[in-house]
Amino acid sequence: MERNVALVTGGLGGIGLVISKVLSENGFHVVAGCRPNSANADKYQGELAMTHPNITVLPFNVGDYHECQRVVLDIEESHGPIKVLVNNAGITKDGQLKKMTEDQWQDVLSTNLDSVFNLTRAALGPMLERQYGRIISISSINGEKGQFGQCNYAAAKAGMYGFTKSLAQEVAAKGITVNTISPGYIETDMIRAIKPEIQEAIKSQIPVKRFGQPEEIARCVQFLADEQAGYITGSNLSVNGGQHMA
Ligand code: CAA
Ligand code: NAP
Repeated sequence: MERNVALVTGGLGGIGLVISKVLSENGFHVVAGCRPNSANADKYQGELAMTHPNITVLPFNVGDYHECQRVVLDIEESHGPIKVLVNNAGITKDGQLKKMTEDQWQDVLSTNLDSVFNLTRAALGPMLERQYGRIISISSINGEKGQFGQCNYAAAKAGMYGFTKSLAQEVAAKGITVNTISPGYIETDMIRAIKPEIQEAIKSQIPVKRFGQPEEIARCVQFLADEQAGYITGSNLSVNGGQHMA
């Protein structure tokens, strides 16, 4: 029987690991990407082999175009057709623009936006041949509203909307949906890196008065990844506790 394969970039991170687990618990063989030499690969590989044997860990750099092309070909050959692509890998390198270095800009744009092109470009050909696919990119509330200290990150995350709405039009008649999910502040290491007093100030502005949980994003990914979600395309799903109502 042909396997349903899902590729989740950043699939061992705070949100990504829960996405990987939820998809694997719902019938997918999941390839969970992480960085080359990732500490998370050592941390989770053994554990996942016991609890979620249908998750394969695959280290590769999402910012490297050629590596992404090769990885997609390898996955299709060794695991089966990629039916779901979740562009989830991302980083922050916050700072006001007046102090931002070129590296801070390039690293964030490469990991958060070039990656979406790199992987979607690679996965799209086979999806078009099969006339089926689900492409889900994890954007951010800060791509919707902007954020002090995040010109780089907000630009990358906002870029995902233009990419998604354009590609959705190109492939709508081919059985492929393309959507974004825009989480608010979700309790992972990315949030824990913010100074505690700033975290508290942010939390106080969230109507539900708490940060979100990775499960609350993974559930949305599962919904959009479903075969029955075929009429949702070019959409953005905001999941932010009411912090920003677009
Ligand atoms: N609005 C207006 N002014 C602000 C401000 C804000 N939100 N935050 C800081 N400032 C002001 C301060 O009051 C201070 O002003 P004065 O100099 O007049 O006293 C000045 O900015 C301090 O600037 P610095 O550049 O010296 O501050 P810093 O280097 O200590 O910190 C920062 C800058 C790193 C951007 C810090 O403000 C910060 O971490 N902000 C939070 C950014 C944020 O929300 N990041 C989200 C990360 S998680 C994520 O990205 C996931 C997701 O998608 C939601
Ligand atoms: P996280 O725990 O830091 O996870 C980020 C993941 O991205 C990690 O698994 C990391 O790999 C991977 N990654 C980073 N650079 C990479 C590269 N060059 N190549 C391959 N993989 C790379 O962060 P998170 O909170 O789960 O964030 C996941 C996504 O959600 C990000 O796109 C983020 O911008 C977005 N988001 C997060 C929040 C939030 O509040 N947490 C809110 C809105 C949007 P390793 O496992 O090797 O470290």
